[in-house]
Amino acid sequence: MDSILVTGNGPLNGQIPIAGAKNACLTLMPATLLSEEPLTLTNAPRLSDIKTMTALLQSLGAEVSSLQDGQVIAMSSHTLTSQTADYDIVRKMRASNLVLGPLLARFGQAVVSLPGGCAIGARPMDLHVEGLEALGAEIELKDGYLHAKAPGGLKGAVHEMRFASVGATENIVMAATLAKGTTVLKNAAREPEIVDLVECLRKMGAQISGEGTSTIEIQGVDRLNGATHQVVTDRIELGTYMLAPAICGGEVELLGGRMSLVESFAEKLDAAGVSVAETENGLKVARKKGRVQAVDVVTEPFPGFPTDLQAQMMALMCTAEGTSVLEERIFENRFMHAPELVRMGANIEVHGGTATVTGVESLKGAPVMATDLRASVSLILAGLAAEGETTVSRVYHLDRGYEHVVRKLEGVGAKIERIKGQ
Ligand code: UD1
Repeated sequence: MDSILVTGNGPLNGQIPIAGAKNACLTLMPATLLSEEPLTLTNAPRLSDIKTMTALLQSLGAEVSSLQDGQVIAMSSHTLTSQTADYDIVRKMRASNLVLGPLLARFGQAVVSLPGGCAIGARPMDLHVEGLEALGAEIELKDGYLHAKAPGGLKGAVHEMRFASVGATENIVMAATLAKGTTVLKNAAREPEIVDLVECLRKMGAQISGEGTSTIEIQGVDRLNGATHQVVTDRIELGTYMLAPAICGGEVELLGGRMSLVESFAEKLDAAGVSVAETENGLKVARKKGRVQAVDVVTEPFPGFPTDLQAQMMALMCTAEGTSVLEERIFENRFMHAPELVRMGANIEVHGGTATVTGVESLKGAPVMATDLRASVSLILAGLAAEGETTVSRVYHLDRGYEHVVRKLEGVGAKIERIKGQ
């Protein structure tokens, strides 16, 4: 297995291009199942999770081609041969569950294995099931698979989610596009990836309003067309690389970045003493003097502080002046990076969903192990700021969500290399 060797070497300066959003692409790809006509995505990120979704769609009989070095994904679901999402693929990635709503809407049936993904909590499917049942689906769990059917087709309904789940919102919205009548989804998630999905569905002929607010209204149509859609910028990759100059010092421009994608995160950086400014081509982040100051963080659904940036923010707080409290409210088991950061000399105490971090003057390089996608990149950030060498193993987690991480960080002056495994 490959590992990444990072040697802390001072301030970073230059530009980093930000890719299209993994989490948007993973919901846009299953949208192809809603239509017989081709759907083409541009600005797609080159990631192993995208390959997993490609394999899943192909296993259903969809045609999926990767063009222009993976930045364009051309899909067609003209004829599908299966409505079963197999455990062998689904266990690799939770987002595989996003084929459930589209398959059910177009074919009146779907069999989807309960998902896997990062080991960051229980992550059940009850909110997806409740929403689809409100649209008239009958769903039962048998042998680890959700068996869903809607023999007479789905019917629009008013449904309020108990929690604003991102994936459940995506599944319910996609299913409702082909349901008979109007669906009103209340307490919907407001993430930019959902706005991106709705923009694409609208290009395909769907009638939807209210995306980006907590009430989304969908007027069902008989069929959807093909479309071409550009994937929105990855706000988590953006936030992650915004932390590189924050933790190492220097000034880095994140190309393609937009303030509206990372507002609550940028506010925290500002409070910590890191400046964030919009430029013509993106966002410029600078830490020019002294240590950052400790700030408290509570993770929340968008527009709150994203759980997917909590691990990386903790790496920054490890080197801050003062004590910060990080409260994780989205996932119950998302501090697995804390013991690894402690191996690098960090001072962190975890009690349930709260981590108290007292900043130290400097971290020390160490061998550490990535335990999930965002945890792995937090260890790289910590390594960039540490004295000496840090080896981050189990890099396959990183490949799920960050393309060309070595090239991007080398481009701003970091000392980082990928070591090939046996
Ligand atoms: C998506 C993102 C993930 C991010 C998360 C929260 C994708 C591919 N992944 O995941 O990177 O960390 O949003 O911003 O977009 N829950 C239930 N029942 C359900 C569904 C969810 O209890 O039926 C719980 C989960 O266990 C979790 C919380 O709700 O504690 C948030 O999950 P959700 O918003 O659904 O996240 P995902 O869509 O899986």
